[in-house]
Order: sequence, then C-alpha cells, then structure tokens
Amino acid sequence: MDPAHLPDSILIVDFGSQVTQLIARRVREAGVYSEIAPFTQAEEAFARMRPRGIILSGGPASVTDENGPRIPQAILDSGLPIFGICYGQQALMHQLGGEVLAGDSGEFGRAFIDISEGCALFDGLWHPGESHQVWMSHGDKVTRLAPGFRPVAASPGAPYAVIADDERRIYAMQFHPEVVHTPDGARLLANFVRHVCGLAGDWTMAEFRKTKIEEIRAQVGDGKVICGLSGGVDSAVAAVLIHEAIGDQLTCVFVDHGLMRLGEAEQVVSLFKGHYNIPLVHVDAETLFMNGLAGVSDPEAKRKFIGKTFIDVFEDEAKKIGGADFLAQGTLYPDVIESVSFTGGPSVTIKSHHNVGGLPERMNMQLVEPLRELFKDEVRELGRELGLPDIFVGRHPFPGPGLAIRIPGEVTKERCDILRKADAVYLDEIRNAGLYDAIWQAFAVLLPVRTVGVMGDGRTYDCVCALRAVTSTDGMTADIYPFDAAFLSRVATRIINEVKGINRVVYDYTSKPPGTIEWE
Ligand code: XMP
Repeated sequence: MDPAHLPDSILIVDFGSQVTQLIARRVREAGVYSEIAPFTQAEEAFARMRPRGIILSGGPASVTDENGPRIPQAILDSGLPIFGICYGQQALMHQLGGEVLAGDSGEFGRAFIDISEGCALFDGLWHPGESHQVWMSHGDKVTRLAPGFRPVAASPGAPYAVIADDERRIYAMQFHPEVVHTPDGARLLANFVRHVCGLAGDWTMAEFRKTKIEEIRAQVGDGKVICGLSGGVDSAVAAVLIHEAIGDQLTCVFVDHGLMRLGEAEQVVSLFKGHYNIPLVHVDAETLFMNGLAGVSDPEAKRKFIGKTFIDVFEDEAKKIGGADFLAQGTLYPDVIESVSFTGGPSVTIKSHHNVGGLPERMNMQLVEPLRELFKDEVRELGRELGLPDIFVGRHPFPGPGLAIRIPGEVTKERCDILRKADAVYLDEIRNAGLYDAIWQAFAVLLPVRTVGVMGDGRTYDCVCALRAVTSTDGMTADIYPFDAAFLSRVATRIINEVKGINRVVYDYTSKPPGTIEWE
C-alpha cells in the first residue's frame, strides 16, 4: 500500500502464546488497526507497517535459554512505545539490562495485584492503594529491573507485576491483559494505544471498506475477477465488497453440490441475482456429486472427492465465461496467521479442509483476498456495513463439504433430504429460544444406525439423529452448549414427529478437543 495511506497501527510481535490473537482483537476494539507478526518476521513487518507502537506477546519459551526468541534490535532502538506481556516483559528485561530467572514453580490462574504507583497505563482506571484481579500464567520471573524502570504494581508471586519506564514509554506486565479473566485488561490495552501511543482510535469498518475498495481497484485494474460463493458469510461479504469496487468485472460462481442446508441455495441466488444484481452463474451439480459419492463412506475419501469435483466444476464454469485474471476468496485473518511452533515438526492432518485452493496455479490466476486482515466477527460487521441482510451475516459457519461430513457412512440424496429437515427443525427451535447468536455452530448429524422405536401402536426401525451445538471463538477449540433438558426434549419430539426416517435423537456432549466440531 502507498505509505501515505498506511493506517495508524500497532504491531504485535508473537512469541507463540496461545492467546496472541486476542491482543489484536482488543487493540482493534479500541479502534486501532493491528497486525500480528511471528517474532521471526517482526523486523520485516515493522519496516512495512511503520507502526505507531509495539506490543510483545507472551510465549512458552524461556529467555534464560540461549536460543530463546529475542525482540529485534530495530524495535528496541525505534523510540516507539512498547508494551511487553509476560514473555514480552521478560525479553525486555533480559535485553535491556535486567535479570530474569527460570522459575521452578510459577504462578498460574487468577491473582490479585496491588497498585503502588500511578502510570499512563492506569489512567482513569487503577489508582495507588487499590487491588485488582488479573490472570497470571508464567514460570520464569523478573528478579531485577533494567535501568529506567520502576515497579507500579505487585502480587505476592510477582514483585514486578507491572513496570514502567515513562521516559522511553516502555511498559510491561507479568499477567495477561488480553484475556477476559483480567477484567480491566481491555482498558489497559486501550490506554496503551490511545494515551501512550497517542492514537485517535478512529479505525472503523467504514474506513476499512473505503481503503479496501481503493486497494481492490488498484490490484485488479480492468482485469476480470471470479469468486466462488459457498453460501457462507465470508465469500458473500468478499463478493459484495469486490462488486462495489469493480462492478461487473466480477462474476460469482455458485456450485450447488446438493449438500447445502434447507433453502440455502435459493437464498444465495435470490440475494445475489435479485438484490445485488451481481453476475452469478448458478451450477446445479447435485447429480454429479451424488453419483460420485455413491458407495463412498470413508471421511477423507468424501472430502477429497468433493474438493476435487468442486474445483473441476468451478474451472469449467470459469472457462465458459471466458476465464479470469483473478480469483477472489474470503480468506480470514486466523487462516493467515501462522502460529509459532517451538517444538517444530509438521502438524498432523486431522481433516483435509476443502477450498478452491488448487485453482489459482492451475488457471494462472492471482488471488484477491480482501478479508485477510479480519476476524470472523469483523467480517460480520463489514457485512452489515455493506448492507447484507442479517440472515446472511449472522449465519453459523458451514463447512465446504456441506452435509456430506454430517452423514457418517454413505451419502445419498434421500439421506441429505432427511438431514436437511431435521437440521431446519433444530435451528428453528434455537432461533425461537433466542439462542442462535449465543452459539458458534449448531447442526444435526444423521447417523448410519437404525434403532427400534414405537410410534402410535406400531414398531419403527429408523435412523438416529445426533444434535451438536458448540461455543467457540475461532473454531480451534470448542465447548458444548449446555441446553436445558426441556429445550432438548422439545427439539427431539419435533424432529421425531416431523421428520420421517428418524425415530431417535441424541445430544453430543463432546468438547473440542478431544472431539472435532464436525463429525467427519
Ligand atoms: P472441525 O470439525 O475441524 O471444524 O473441528 C472446525 C471448523 O471448521 C469448519 N470446517 C470446514 N470449513 N471447509 C470449511 O470451509 C472444510 O472442509 C471444513 N471442515 C470443517 C467446521 O464447520 C468448524 O466451523
């Protein structure tokens, strides 16, 4: 981007903490744009972004380890405000002339700190003499401060719980302000970006929309863009934003594999063709997909077939409309951030995720990914800003392979139809109970198991349907949603009464890990 157009930003240097993404979120919630860079790429990101302040994350390593990660010297020499969290604090002390010792016990969980002196981070928030709840998670400990620093808060286990060097505008804390268990944490971070870094906090979605539209125009020129719609919020928001930027240079392709939820395909078509008037190719490929899935019951075989067939169909359609120079995707920030691995080694493939990733090389297209700096809820906010209806914007995530991975065993059109009905009843009840937005994802699964039941005076021998509902922030971990028994029995009764082919309903009580959200 043209440096004159760079937003005021904060660079977050990631030392591998599990919760680094939360720092970025808190900073953005304070109205300031932020990006995360792994410590190995921090110097490069620093030069590119020209940030107005730096936050150093926590992490699992020890600064007492000779090969432990370090803060790039360019950042320490920059004269910019710095905020070190946990490992970030220890790295600051280690590199600026203090002392850190490897702890043999550590301090984990809720703790109370006593405020001894004021500092810019505490402005309007914490005062000397008060005690406040924070969330600690550390093994090593700072034992001597670097020159220029003074302690401003302490806990029994951490005499240097918060330290400050007002002259150099460097602040650091032993606890984690980014997690909700530090109730004032978001305001501490907001004080850093607003009071210490002096940023206005005026980064908004309206601003983001304007900047992105300029960027898309600059990237695409008069080229042609093709965008695959999935029915989900990400691709829909990306498509509407790109259409606003370049109009009918964009064509959307919706490959309907017959594995969508009830009414979903119709909604996509009517929104894009009817409401936005965006050129849309609707490919009805249900038969192709169902024929290919016949006899396939291995989860990975299903995923691979669907992924490959999806790309084949998409490519054919792209050729029919005369090709394209760019492929638009709704890639989000969590997909972009690489977690820093200290243990090394490739991670195992739990599931091969399906997307149109193979296409750009095959068709010699460049990628347009206007959402790659955003988190899911920010995409939803941008969607609202663009005027997308709530039914789209607030929708639970839906996997690319669709209902196929919610039907263990062989997938047939008949089984898809049964599942669609059960799923619709379940979601209808969730909406009626006002719970839809409190849940990350809720869906029904159709099991390849038949059980005996009795309905009226007759014997039934039909399928089992499992219900799943989880809360999550990013889909990486998840907890089950604790419905009350009356709700679950209402849903079970309705499904058994209304959906022919199901005579038993069970609730899945597995969190992630050890389970995954989808069943396959
Ligand atoms: P799992 O089942 O891995 O799912 O715990 C985590 C999140 O990812 C979604 N998911 C997918 N999304 N293509 C997608 O676009 C896929 O192949 C896919 N598989 C799982 C899942 O719905 C959940 O939100």
